[in-house]
Amino acid sequence: MAYSSPSSKLVYFVVIIPFILVSALLFTLNHKPSRSYSWPSFQYPVNSPSPAKVIEQTSDAAAPEDQLPVVENGNSNLKRIEASLARARAKVQNAYHNNKTSYDPYYVPNGPMYRNPNSFHRSYLEMERLFKIYVYEDGEPPLFHYSKKFGILGIEGILLHQIEISKFRTRDPETAHVYFIPISVQSIASYAYVIHDRSWDPLRNIARDYVNLIATKYPYWNRTRGYDHFMVACHDWGPKISRGVSHLYKNSIRVLCNANTSEGFKPSIDVSMPEIYLPDGTMNGLIGGPPPSDRPILVFYAGGIHGYIRQLLMDQWEDKDPDVQIHEYLPENMPYYDMIRKSKYCICPSGWEVASPRMVEALYMGCVPVLLKDHYAKPFDDVLNWGTFSVDIQVKQIPDLKNILMDIRQEQYIEMQKTGIQLRRHFEVNFPPKRYDVFHMILHSIWLRRINIQLHER
Ligand SMILES: *[C@@H]1O[C@H](CO)[C@@H](O)[C@H](O)[C@H]1NC(C)=O
Ligand SMILES: *[C@@H]1O[C@H](CO)[C@@H](O)[C@H](O)[C@H]1NC(C)=O
Ligand SMILES: *[C@@H]1O[C@H](CO)[C@@H](O)[C@H](O)[C@H]1NC(C)=O
Repeated sequence: MAYSSPSSKLVYFVVIIPFILVSALLFTLNHKPSRSYSWPSFQYPVNSPSPAKVIEQTSDAAAPEDQLPVVENGNSNLKRIEASLARARAKVQNAYHNNKTSYDPYYVPNGPMYRNPNSFHRSYLEMERLFKIYVYEDGEPPLFHYSKKFGILGIEGILLHQIEISKFRTRDPETAHVYFIPISVQSIASYAYVIHDRSWDPLRNIARDYVNLIATKYPYWNRTRGYDHFMVACHDWGPKISRGVSHLYKNSIRVLCNANTSEGFKPSIDVSMPEIYLPDGTMNGLIGGPPPSDRPILVFYAGGIHGYIRQLLMDQWEDKDPDVQIHEYLPENMPYYDMIRKSKYCICPSGWEVASPRMVEALYMGCVPVLLKDHYAKPFDDVLNWGTFSVDIQVKQIPDLKNILMDIRQEQYIEMQKTGIQLRRHFEVNFPPKRYDVFHMILHSIWLRRINIQLHER
């Protein structure tokens, strides 16, 4: 992998360049202020030091639930780790405040699609340089350490596997910044779900038993009450199963496709992961599409009527207008991917859950995504300016869909389409992973949440 070569160290030169950033608010909108983290660079007035979220003692059973824990004294490894994170935090902040670009021969984030290209880049490079993940080794596949890599939830298995074999993994828990709980929600859902029982308990107990096991065997869970631990789930039930352990649900970083802010997803603590469908397990044949001038259809959607949003869409638009191609089933002479490639805009509605692979399909094929979702936390929203390459439509605006899209000026559409192509690298799945691809972006989201907390000694 390119990033593991020693020469990549040469990358960390600093140059000066501009930018402005706006988005701090995003982080604070959806949750209680006492729990909100932020970019080191967001939110704080220029020249003030970045107050990372301070984490206090855990083993103190009397600590009020809403107070963050403190780590015990005398742990020199932890001190070292916190010191290095503090330096990384300062560098990211510096890149933000001083408008500094970093050098990188491979790729330099630049352009309006980034909320703050310089601080993102610096943060990304610091992640590559420092970030260490400890994966608990306990537990056997398939419930642990394994998840299916195919199908629309395949990213769950791909990510789990790529973390386990990645250069970010450390075998020494004393050097880790975060601890990975390798439970497989897909496997739990398929092996442990008893149809006639319909109870969440047996599923949640698997997660609870695992966390109890690692909390008893190692000091790390109790030390922070789970704040520096993370789990990964693309399956719809990820949020429900994480509720089996209250600190996992409330404190840990949950990397979820089902990023529904009405169901406890907290954008400042949790990570929204894109759902990605790779029919043959790779990106073969998925990337690329014609330019805007060869896209005769205004807007396209095809798929099952899962959930109320799609029902509304069908009721309003199915077979009504040749510019608005909305289908439950596609005729045989209209292959699905061809339709995406012939369309300017592609609708990505919520289904049974908020995420859908359509968003990434559209980006892969050069169709501008139209997000039709309630309560969805978009992936990488702390880094990317979604408004520069996608369109948000409220559910109540479905009747105006065509007018809204027709009102977008041609130049603006062309700009969004081009921007989508420029940033699709962040959604690409590579084997092995490549720098700045979806694997690294998801890790970067985890890293970002970790550098915003600070384990504190009394
Ligand atoms: C950052 O620096 C560049 C020149 O390197 C300048 O064009 C830009 O306006 C600056 N941005 C800010 C926010 O100071
Ligand atoms: C962590 O806390 C739990 C519950 O309070 C306790 O049973 C367990 O022994 C603790 N783990 C360690 C390693 O001390
Ligand atoms: C998001 O959560 C809310 C609250 O539970 C729910 O009503 C809504 O249907 C969910 N959205 C989707 C698409 O599942």
